[in-house]
Amino acid sequence: MQHSYHGDTFGAMSVGARGVFNAAYGSLLFDVTSIPFPASGRERATLDALESACRNENPAAFIVEPLVLGAGGMLMYPAWVLREMKRICEASDVLFIADEVMTGWGRTGTIFACEQANVVPDIACYSKGLTGGALPLAVTLCRAEIFDAHYSKDRTRTFLHSSSYTANPVACAAAKANLDLWKDQECHRRIAAVATMQEQAIEAFRVDPRFDCGAAIRMEVQRQSG
Ligand SMILES: Cc1ncc(COP(=O)(O)O)c(C=O)c1O
Repeated sequence: MQHSYHGDTFGAMSVGARGVFNAAYGSLLFDVTSIPFPASGRERATLDALESACRNENPAAFIVEPLVLGAGGMLMYPAWVLREMKRICEASDVLFIADEVMTGWGRTGTIFACEQANVVPDIACYSKGLTGGALPLAVTLCRAEIFDAHYSKDRTRTFLHSSSYTANPVACAAAKANLDLWKDQECHRRIAAVATMQEQAIEAFRVDPRFDCGAAIRMEVQRQSG
């Protein structure tokens, strides 16, 4: 999706927005099809573009930051759009990859942003809040068929890539401790309390003509689109 950020490996740069951060690697990145960001009032154009790409370009997968594009400028879009994107991918047999590196672990109010759209991704990427931000760790989860397709005693069919500290036990212990916190109802009560407090506090600003966040986002999207 336009304005996305997915990381700094060649694959991640290829599927993210092209710009000053990756211009030096431009010739090495592979081609992808981008769909426009679903700015308020222009959601249908995004869904049509996804439908057309799925129908005409035989993509392997669709990758998206659910509900909030972080590095792209905290651009937000509603849960129904995410749900529709998943429906389109499913109908076309295109894998749906949710990059929840930024949105995961409560950043949007639910543990995962996809929950708000009732979407179960085929592949999901988590990091940052996975350890409560205390230690570096990332995980990629996928449906069993995808896992099995990369799991074989035949080394030519196995996904062998990893890095020096993969599954580092100290980082995994931090993630496990974080998961325990999430199981505690107190954590969910506090999220609900903060959400209510913010809803109430924001009321005072709603009457201010400068409050139109939608307009601010539209202006930012227009600015970035040139
Ligand atoms: C949505 C998203 N995906 C991927 C990444 C990259 O993660 P990493 O630095 O662990 O490769 C980031 C980092 O900010 C991110 O916000």
